[in-house]
Amino acid sequence: MTKKLRSSAWFAGDDKDAFIHRSWMKNRGLPDDAFDGRPVIGICNTFSEFTPCNAHFRELVEHVKRGVLDAGGVPLEFPVFSCGESNLRPTAMLFRNLASMDVEEAIRGNPMDGVVLMAGCDKTTPSLLMGASSCDLPSIVISGGPMLNGKFRGKDIGSGTDVWRFSEDVRAGVMSRADFMAAESAMSRSPGHCMTMGTASTMASMVEALGVALPGNAAYPAVDARRSRLARMTGRRIVEMVHEDLVLSRILTREAFANAIRINGAIGGSTNAVVHLLAIAGRIGTPLTLEDWDRWGQDMPTILDLMPSGRFLMEDFCYAGGLPALMKEVASVLDLGALTVTGRTVAENIEPAENFDKEVIRPVTKPLTPNGGIAVLRGNLAPDGAIIKPSAASPELMRHRGRAVVFNTIEDYKRRVDDPALDIDEHCVMVLRNCGPKGYPGMAEVGNMALPRKLLERGVRDMVRLSDARMSGTAFGTVILHVAPEAAVGGPLALVKDGDEIELDVPARRLQLHVSEEALAARRAAWSAPEPAMKGGYQSLYVERTLQADKGADLDFLVGCRGHAVPRESH
Ligand code: FES
Repeated sequence: MTKKLRSSAWFAGDDKDAFIHRSWMKNRGLPDDAFDGRPVIGICNTFSEFTPCNAHFRELVEHVKRGVLDAGGVPLEFPVFSCGESNLRPTAMLFRNLASMDVEEAIRGNPMDGVVLMAGCDKTTPSLLMGASSCDLPSIVISGGPMLNGKFRGKDIGSGTDVWRFSEDVRAGVMSRADFMAAESAMSRSPGHCMTMGTASTMASMVEALGVALPGNAAYPAVDARRSRLARMTGRRIVEMVHEDLVLSRILTREAFANAIRINGAIGGSTNAVVHLLAIAGRIGTPLTLEDWDRWGQDMPTILDLMPSGRFLMEDFCYAGGLPALMKEVASVLDLGALTVTGRTVAENIEPAENFDKEVIRPVTKPLTPNGGIAVLRGNLAPDGAIIKPSAASPELMRHRGRAVVFNTIEDYKRRVDDPALDIDEHCVMVLRNCGPKGYPGMAEVGNMALPRKLLERGVRDMVRLSDARMSGTAFGTVILHVAPEAAVGGPLALVKDGDEIELDVPARRLQLHVSEEALAARRAAWSAPEPAMKGGYQSLYVERTLQADKGADLDFLVGCRGHAVPRESH
């Protein structure tokens, strides 16, 4: 039996306040019976033409609305800040927390009983789920779905992954500029988000693995009719969830996060999922640490053969059976009793799934990478941790000791990387700093620095790279990321000098700077913090209050669940 609806605090009764709330809503044509105790469903839409990955949401939302109406609810769509990865500067990540604040306050302040979160492009998924988690209403995610596979000259090409590859080929002189330009139109050829296992596909998989989206959410292409059907079913389901009082905190348990982290390893998911899941857990109040990523992920074989770690793309994943089929392959290590938005357990959700293509979703006995999770590194260079994605790295560089070549900022890197006089060879460790949460600001995706042209021309294709930045989920290479504390707050990364020896030992989870404590103390005494890029406005609030990467880079005052109690009347 449904408990008293939250929306009745606005719409029930015959006094002045109820008159105001109902009368203004009626200007959209809502009949009297829209206010007779039906669940009001907010549909949180990240549509924006500046976010091309979510630009089809005007059509998709109509399917969600029909589903809500089918089930006897009242659908009310509302827009929120849309973090588009391909356009927003200095980085979409800077605005993830801002968007999450928008989502949280819009949910709590408005008369809604449940919420559908329409996400797609990288940061839109975590921003919506973070904001909703701070409210803890019944909530369900529908992702926009990936683009169809890119096609260029008879071959599949993947969002992002082939951009990095092609641009290195151009710099190495093995691809013409004309071919590079032609590939641009062939890559993004349908609505949807990046179709590699980048951050968007990873986060669409994460919400399904966490149990906050319906089975099938991760892989149906944006233009597949099954995506529209899923949107309709999502609309129907949220109304039932309101009746069942199935709030987010009943689903986002520690078991759910363990499942998601294991699945991230199995899909070869983006390193960005680390900061996003830590931030989401912080909002809902579920304990989760960087160590949990290593604990739950380290033995996970990557069984999904998708770019950037493997060969295929999201469309192929869909035809192979999608995430339910993959989860069934690794069911033995999942918490199958975890509750999901279907009202059923993970076990019940994946029971009907089938793997139709064992090249794409490999059996666990024939993985793409045996240890596919995220490795968490520590040492005097990263006292609070750093991460690396071994499945996207070169096995021969997993243990490496090399001479540091330091770039103080991304502009410094761009200025000098192709200078023929740069003293660098393939054994060096490329170090980039001041690109962390406070330093950039917003922790930009610049950690996968392209290699110096002179080394590319010699056929070098990977080197150890190290930074306090993130990297695109579509990127690859032996790239150490999220070094904490970051350089801009005086972390040891700020003290590295050209020529210092850096040792990476992934099996031992070590990241060590071979410089004496005395020398480091002298360098620390001479160090001064860089000037912030902008004084005032949201950026200065962000720089002042953001947490470090190992804590999810949320704003400190946004951590936690503040619930969905009805605020005081506005009139
Ligand atoms: Fe939007 Fe990749 S740019 S998902």
